[in-house]
Amino acid sequence: MTEDATLLEPLLALLRGGVGEDDRWLKAIFSHPAGDAFFEKLVAQPVRLTSGAAIKLVVSNQGRVATRALPLGDWPAELEAVLGAEPSHINLLARDHDWHARRAKSGRWLVSRGKPSQVPRGEPAAVAAHDRQPNHPLPPDDEAVRELFVETGLFGHSGKLRGEAAGKYRQVQHYVELLRPLGLWERPAGSAVRIVDAGCGKAYLSLALYLYAKRRGLRPELHAVDREPSVIGAVATAAEHLGYIDVHTHAADIASFAATLDGGCDLLVSLHACDTATDDALGAGVSLGAKAIVLAPCCHHELVAQVEARMKDGRAPAGWDAILGSGLLRHRFADVLTDALRAAALEACGYRADVVEFVDPEATSRNLMIRAERRPEGSGLEMAKAAGVASFRGLAAAWDVQPSVQRVVASPEP
Ligand SMILES: C[S@@+](CC[C@H](N)C(=O)[O-])C[C@H]1O[C@@H](n2cnc3c(N)ncnc32)[C@H](O)[C@@H]1O
Repeated sequence: MTEDATLLEPLLALLRGGVGEDDRWLKAIFSHPAGDAFFEKLVAQPVRLTSGAAIKLVVSNQGRVATRALPLGDWPAELEAVLGAEPSHINLLARDHDWHARRAKSGRWLVSRGKPSQVPRGEPAAVAAHDRQPNHPLPPDDEAVRELFVETGLFGHSGKLRGEAAGKYRQVQHYVELLRPLGLWERPAGSAVRIVDAGCGKAYLSLALYLYAKRRGLRPELHAVDREPSVIGAVATAAEHLGYIDVHTHAADIASFAATLDGGCDLLVSLHACDTATDDALGAGVSLGAKAIVLAPCCHHELVAQVEARMKDGRAPAGWDAILGSGLLRHRFADVLTDALRAAALEACGYRADVVEFVDPEATSRNLMIRAERRPEGSGLEMAKAAGVASFRGLAAAWDVQPSVQRVVASPEP
């Protein structure tokens, strides 16, 4: 965590505005040196009362503790009074981050931000069932969802979120949320939807997708592929326990699996498959005619070596020294170049690709997701493909690199 005075404004904005239907902060603690204000410690917490939303205040001062509930409409004025008393520390526990602010002797605020420590309202450990807001794609109070999360270790056997699994839980919900806009879920109830997870590991994200498809009234069929037989065995066991009858596991290499699957697929996902395995997955999705391809790339090794070779032989584009001269920036740049070429390659194959943030950048720097949906047949398709080819070739030529993904651009048709 780093200290940064410019972060006070976002913290205050969150405190002023982040309560209501979807509370973005869960607890705020203001501290003050003894004797100088109406509190030594003041804890504010959004709560739901039968009369409506409110802020519970617990004020400690000179050995006395007083608790009261403040109507939500009175919170802004109360907050200004608390801030006006010049607290020395503010700790704000929010859905997305924990914030810590302390006032230095100079009067300047030093603010740091870290991972969230609280389970947000609406998630199982935090609230009573009647208060839950079922706005997650997989509502935790749904029995089937609970079973899945118990099986995949996110919930304990009591059905409550395990504290140490909070990050993973958010990731699963966020992942399904990111895939929710895909057109393939819009099919009529009872339609089949075939999903391939390439480099699936324990496949807990794909099992969540399988359940999501069922909740949408579809008939999912999941093919979980990993070259590691032991993880594939674990997926098969989990699917059996859950009664997910249409989960098929394959201990295989992504490329060879794709060559043997008849009938294509609707969705190919590949999350954090190592290095160029992401390109194998992309190629598999294209060759299987997937309606959507979703990739979260992992480690990138291929292009940094090629960029460094261009530097050595003096053929790197001019004017890039400030980036190429730093090892860290050079590696980051090669990662970006790799993923930009992947997105362009997908466009060249007739997909509309966008790049979004997958997981919290504080959890891992490998947090990109490339989401691509096949464009419909029509007059614009060939033009879009040609633009993708030009974009891919232009960028690859500028750096004189030959990424693995180029093979799909050379022969884009399934
Ligand atoms: C970092 S793990 C990610 C697992 C899972 N997708 C997730 O996000 O939790 C990468 C997985 O990809 C598998 N893998 C890597 N290259 C592969 C390939 N060419 N064919 C099949 N599996 C591969 C590895 O065995 C490993 O289980």
